[in-house]
This record gives sequence, C-alpha cells and structure tokens, in this order.
Amino acid sequence: MSKTVTITGAAGQIGYQLAFRIASGQLLGADETINLNLLEITPALDALKGVAMELEDCAFDTLGNIDISDDPNEAFKDTDYAFLVGAKPRGPGMERSDLLQENAKIFSAQGKAINENASRDIKVLVVGNPANTNALIAMSNAPDVDQNAFTAMMRLDHNRALAQLASKLDCHSSELSNMTIWGNHSTTQYPDINNLKLSGEPISARLDETWIKEEFIPRVQNRGGEIIKARGLSSAASAASAAIDHMRDWALGTKESNWVSMAIPSDGSYGISEGIIYSFPVTCQNGSYSIVQNLQINKFDKKCMEISERELIEEKEAIQHLL
Ligand code: NAD
Ligand code: LMR
Repeated sequence: MSKTVTITGAAGQIGYQLAFRIASGQLLGADETINLNLLEITPALDALKGVAMELEDCAFDTLGNIDISDDPNEAFKDTDYAFLVGAKPRGPGMERSDLLQENAKIFSAQGKAINENASRDIKVLVVGNPANTNALIAMSNAPDVDQNAFTAMMRLDHNRALAQLASKLDCHSSELSNMTIWGNHSTTQYPDINNLKLSGEPISARLDETWIKEEFIPRVQNRGGEIIKARGLSSAASAASAAIDHMRDWALGTKESNWVSMAIPSDGSYGISEGIIYSFPVTCQNGSYSIVQNLQINKFDKKCMEISERELIEEKEAIQHLL
C-alpha cells in the first residue's frame, strides 16, 4: 500500500521537520509507503532540492517517491493527505488584513489545485497562518471535494494546554484527557478545562479558578508569541509534531474515552455560526471526525467562545471576495 502526502512550504522550518517524520513512518506507521510531493515557491526550489537529497540519504524503509515542484497542480496530483504549511509571513508595516489578503491568494490557488488534482478522499490540514481562515478559503475553492476534508491546526494549542496542566498537577501529560480548545488559532482561542480528567477522573474542581483565568488561559493563548520571543523564530518542531498528531488521529482514530481539538467547518453545534472553520472537541473513527455533543457550557465559556467566533467572522468578511 502507498499514500501520497503533499507538504507545502516544505523547505521552511516546519516543513523541514514534517517531511522527515512523515517519511520515517510516524504518520501512518511502518506498513504504509509514503510518496512525498513537496511544494515550494520558485526561489526556494534549490533549498527544496537539498531537502529531497537529505530525505534520500535517510534511506527510510517507508519512503517511496519524492516529487519536488513549484506548481500546485503537480504537487496535489492524487494527494491523500495535504499539509498546507507554506504561507507568507507578516512583513514590516503589514497590517493583519494585508496578511489575510496575501495568504488568501495562496490558499485560493491551492484550493483550486486540490479540486482539480487530488484524491476525492483527501484530508487537508492547514497550518499556515491565519490557519482557520486560510482553510476556509481553500475549502471554498474546492467545491468538488467534501467540505469536511478541510481542517486547521489547533492541536499545538491543545498540546500546549496539556503540558501546562501536567506541570501544575505534577503528573504526566499522557494521564490527562478531555481537554478542549474552542475557536481560532489566535489569542482569542478559549482553552477550556471544564471536562478535564486525570487518569479518567474529573479534576477541574481541584484547579484554582484564579490560576485558570489569570495564568493558564492567557499562557496558552499567548504561547506562540512566547516561543517567538525566546527563539527569535516561530515554533517549528512542536508545530510539526502537532500536525502529525492531528492527521494521525484523524486517519487512524482517537483514543477511547478521550477527544482532541480540531478546527473544522462549523455545523452550528454549540450555537457557533456555520460558514467558519472553528475549533471543537472531536473524536475520530474510520477516517471521519465528529463533534462531541452535549457538553455543559456556562456563561463564562459562552462569552469566551463568542469572542473567538466574532474574530473568525471578521476575518471571513475581510476576504469574502475570494470565497
Ligand atoms: P517558514 O517561513 O520557515 O517556511 C514557510 C515556507 O513556505 C517558506 O519556505 C516559503 O518559501 C514557503 N511558501 C511561501 N509561499 C508559498 C506558496 N505559495 N507555496 C508553497 N510554499 C510557499 O515558516 P514556518 O516556520 O515553517 O511556518 C509556516 C507557517 O505556519 C507560518 O504561517 C506560521 O505562522 C504557521 N504556524 C502555524 C502554527 C499553528 O499552530 N497553526 C504553528 C506554528 C506556525
Ligand atoms: C504558534 O502558535 O506558535 C504560531 O502560530 C505563532 C506564529 O505567529 O507563527
């Protein structure tokens, strides 16, 4: 068996981690051969060639063909799994709306190329920022592909929350379950611990409310900025790791009695407007995800969830002409 995996921005920081981990079997396991399609902009093709040479030099058992290209139509040919990482970074004097417009062009072209060339069973994960709205643009430009195939990455935020909680509770992050991140991959996201469990037992009542509201929530919301300040570059290895977690769980299933956070097309659950890509708690089985329903939402939760919903609606309004 073989699967085709496309990575855009494959010569960038995240791509350089992602390509090797996927090629070595960390996405789909030791029995699946991975054909890699790597996409870059033309000026980065030489660097991309170097990445392909290093991939060859690893002699991974699970790596099949490598194709490098600056043409989205070639890169998305028969793609089963797409990691849309390549995006334009914010330049000096650039407003958030300028960034939205610049990236909107990239993601509308890639959505069209997916529509024309990819497998009808494709799964798409958008990592490049603003990830949720970029996913919406790609989805809108691929009308012949199942719209639920378009998702954006919240798993890094989810993992960051688990790490902070494990440190606070003096346990291992693997002992924690049922964490939720709602909303946008931005500082308006809402990390919600109401249903958190430690070794299967509810634990949120043991956490101090002041710590949750004044330390934990802002810490998770601003962790991306904290990493940029420390490294001088945005998160890369942790982002690649979260991207693999997201796609692997979607493809192979989430663990029993647990859920993960994924930004997906809203179906109106929990009163969140349809027509945006919003993060919900989901379980995955047989290659599909479903939103965990009937969680209790209090006034504080609702207010936080609506702030992020509003931001996503505003982002959508700014690029409406490209949908
Ligand atoms: P990077 O600048 O190191 O790499 C981006 C690569 O994308 C570059 O090599 C660039 O040439 C390429 N690229 C640009 N436009 C392209 C296009 N049209 N087609 C193909 N490739 C293109 O950046 P990075 O650190 O790898 O981060 C990539 C993106 O991921 C950024 O937008 C960053 O903000 C975002 N990010 C998201 C999360 C998340 O949790 N969602 C976390 C970390 C980073
Ligand atoms: C992150 O969460 O680490 C990134 O999205 C930050 C960024 O702006 O690249």
